[in-house]
Amino acid sequence: MSALPAVLSLRGVAHRYAGAPTATLEGLDLDLRAGEIVAVVGASGCGKTTLVRLLAGLDRPQAGRIALDGVPLDGPHPRIGVVFQEPRLLPWLTVAGNVGFGLDHLPRGARAARVQAALERVQLPGFGARWPRELSGGQAQRVAIARALAVEPELILMDEPFSALDPATRGALQDHVAALWGGSAGALLLVTHDVDEALVLADRVVVLAPQPGRIAATLAIDLPRPRRRAAAAFADHRRALLDALARADRRC
Ligand SMILES: Nc1ncnc2c1ncn2[C@@H]1O[C@H](COP(=O)(O)OP(=O)(O)OP(=O)(O)O)[C@@H](O)[C@H]1O
Ligand SMILES: [Mg+2]
Repeated sequence: MSALPAVLSLRGVAHRYAGAPTATLEGLDLDLRAGEIVAVVGASGCGKTTLVRLLAGLDRPQAGRIALDGVPLDGPHPRIGVVFQEPRLLPWLTVAGNVGFGLDHLPRGARAARVQAALERVQLPGFGARWPRELSGGQAQRVAIARALAVEPELILMDEPFSALDPATRGALQDHVAALWGGSAGALLLVTHDVDEALVLADRVVVLAPQPGRIAATLAIDLPRPRRRAAAAFADHRRALLDALARADRRC
């Protein structure tokens, strides 16, 4: 894995919101490689969403360097897709319009096919003509995931994408995302509070410690795929991750 070049790399990244007394993030070094799924976990307020905003090119770090294939990231990039904590659908567009929003460059037929495939991937076929106001919170979030998938970016950043879903839908979508990434060249960075979600999906889990947000531990998850939540080795990893989270919180 380490032989592959990093798609996205962070070196010495620090961030402080204007007027804030302390830095939100400090000294972050992280590489995200093709085909890799990296989960980011950590206490509420430790800077996970801030990290996603930096990686999405929506905010600039005060110190350090973020580079996409070695080129400094200077704003949102078509190779990077984002799913935010809340769906952020455009209310004046139908579901199909939202999912196809970034596909203007495609001919109409190809665009419709891409939208339909993305809706099927999030188990919402037949929802294309609906309006965002007609969706439940979980359905809206799945449409947001479909919108990111439809563009087929090389890197998707997801900020707690499944937190609004009921447990059955969440489990199904986690498995689905894991299968989708198996053998895919795209990289996925996923922020989550759900330890099992991190273990089902990730090749690596990065644990952030708060105030200022920094990497307290990185755990390699070498469990075979598809991951079985009931496996003894899964329970061992769960224990190790919970320990790492508790240690990170004690460091604040
Ligand atoms: N726009 C902002 N201006 C000032 N401070 C901010 C802003 N956005 C976030 N913060 C602060 O930065 C810190 C990190 O916030 P962030 O949203 O990145 O945390 P998080 O890890 O995503 O939390 P959660 O798990 O609750 O989503 C928090 O202390 C928060 O109050
Ligand atoms: Mg957040």
